[in-house]
Amino acid sequence: MGFVVAVDGPAASGKGTIAARLGAAFGLPVLDTGLLYRAVGVLCERAGHDPGDGAAAATVAAALSAEQLGDPALRTRRAGELASRVAVHPAVRAALLDLQRAFARQESGAVLDGRDIGTVICPQAPAKLYVTATPEVRAERRWKQLAAQGEAADYAEVLADTRRRDARDGGRETAPMACAADAILLDTTEMTIEHAADAARRIVEAARARWEASKASP
Ligand code: DC
Repeated sequence: MGFVVAVDGPAASGKGTIAARLGAAFGLPVLDTGLLYRAVGVLCERAGHDPGDGAAAATVAAALSAEQLGDPALRTRRAGELASRVAVHPAVRAALLDLQRAFARQESGAVLDGRDIGTVICPQAPAKLYVTATPEVRAERRWKQLAAQGEAADYAEVLADTRRRDARDGGRETAPMACAADAILLDTTEMTIEHAADAARRIVEAARARWEASKASP
């Protein structure tokens, strides 16, 4: 197996940007696994399914392909909410497992970001980060990002969304959002994205050196 980097954490913690920067720095392909759940949520809604219907959502998840992840509709606030709702179903998570593990198994190695990468998808990953920040700071980042995308939103509503998603993602029974016991916690509350990406790169560099050394030893 190649060198796998697991980047987990709550919404708008900076994990997506960090994962992309790590991919560029280490020459690894990156999978934003949140996009998978966003796509399932959006496709369910388009097909007229209730996001609470786990069987219908699992059928949509089983038919999903990586080519469907470029749709800008997946970046909206609505898509994030739908994603969090379909993500509670064990059958949906099971249907998305092989795709994620196949991505991680590439010979080149890979970076995957999400909520359960270090705990469930790639528990053996040699580098694990859990990126977090306070709900207020994450909501502010998300609110600015939405405005830049042309989606005006009220800060108080975005903060309420953030808290609701944290509670749902962290409170569900199957594969809840969690920091793996062997993950390094990176709190980006007081950091610029440059500073956070740099700290993440140094953590992964150290993990890579340990991984290389463990491969070399008999
Ligand atoms: O990272 P994101 O905001 O794009 O994720 C959207 C939702 O998808 C998130 O609220 C919970 C779900 N998700 C998940 O359950 N497991 C993952 N590995 C990634 C995302």
